Amino acid sequence: MSLSRRNDELWIEGCNARALADGHGTPLYVYSRAAIESAWRAYDQAFAAHPHLICYAVKANGSLAILQLLARLGSGFDIVSGGELARVMKAGGDPARVVFSGVGKRDEEIEQALEAGILAFNVESEPELERIARIASARGERARISLRVNPDVDARTHPYISTGMKENKFGIDIHAAEALYHRAAAMAGIEVTGLDFHIGSQLTELDPLADALSRSLALVDRLEAAGITLEHLDIGGGLGIRYRDEAPPTPAALAERLGPLLEGRPQTLLMEPGRALVGEAGVLLTRVEYLKSGHREFAVVDAAMNDLMRPALYQAWQRIETVAPEAVPARAYDIVGPVCETADTLGAERSLALRPGSVLAIHGAGAYGFAMASQYNARPRPAEILVDGDTAHVIRQRESFEDLWRGETLLER
Ligand code: LLP
Repeated sequence: MSLSRRNDELWIEGCNARALADGHGTPLYVYSRAAIESAWRAYDQAFAAHPHLICYAVKANGSLAILQLLARLGSGFDIVSGGELARVMKAGGDPARVVFSGVGKRDEEIEQALEAGILAFNVESEPELERIARIASARGERARISLRVNPDVDARTHPYISTGMKENKFGIDIHAAEALYHRAAAMAGIEVTGLDFHIGSQLTELDPLADALSRSLALVDRLEAAGITLEHLDIGGGLGIRYRDEAPPTPAALAERLGPLLEGRPQTLLMEPGRALVGEAGVLLTRVEYLKSGHREFAVVDAAMNDLMRPALYQAWQRIETVAPEAVPARAYDIVGPVCETADTLGAERSLALRPGSVLAIHGAGAYGFAMASQYNARPRPAEILVDGDTAHVIRQRESFEDLWRGETLLER
């Protein structure tokens, strides 16, 4: 196990969590390299029977060293901005394995992606298609595109992270997509290569994904009959992880479920998992500053909503435990940060044995953790450690005060 408890202490591979907190300070993000690699390989092996490419969703955790280790495994990448493309290339990722999603692609981002030679744009609207066609034509090129269809299925996840229903801003109504495919196929600057959907995140059931695929395949068949053939099918990301007691489907279960639908189809299958590759590979370590009793018992810790936003933003529940036992009685604590907002609660009523100085691990922090961190309240963002066996690599230094005002200027008078 990449993260394990031995003698009631938390270990990340061969590194003791408390020793990491003592040595590098807190709050501290710590990831297991082995956990990320084995999650990626599990996906890759699950789909071995069908030509496929895993395009890791960079937004989940875009730290360079993580992109680098995935690039070395042969991963592709799903990006949503020019900044993410720049990160992928900085980390040694192959632009020919990059798909570009997102509803608001700007001119310069489209230029940048064409210049890099990405695999495909996942086009989210008709005006976007027209814009890409215009920019590619002006360059004397044809942009490879998928239409991101909105299959109108309910992913049955948190409303903020559900994206495949017709009332969401994402994708093109699947019923309107057919006509748009015909238009796209006739555009000089466009080469139609694929179809894409992404119905939501933290999915714990396979039915919505299978439904979305069936609806999409019906469209693929109609397109084929009309002479529009596709090279790839992109099923998006979304498989959930275990935060509490969820039992999300494994990549193998996903492959087994989708396999019969894909049989005999020549298209390469693209997938855009983010959370499922990195989520469980990371913890956020934080130290108790104060224990404060009143109407409730509070443990004030040194991490806050700016470091890990999910609990405040989605009322997300993430498991919190001490990294080593404390010989004091357990109490039901609200784990709160120093930020001046009531929403700054990382966990409510957690039964823990704590004293000032205790180190806590917040689990499931590898995805949408650091990636969503800010400097709110002028808090330098945490350091990040990638553990590889018994070696702890600092893959991002803790920010300094200088970092807080980088790029700012004072008035001259
Ligand atoms: N592809 C597209 C087009 C997406 O929009 C997303 C996530 C993914 C792939 C990756 O989804 P995943 O495999 O990680 O579920 N901040 C939220 C999650 C937002 C997900 C947004 N889109 C959270 O912390 O729960």
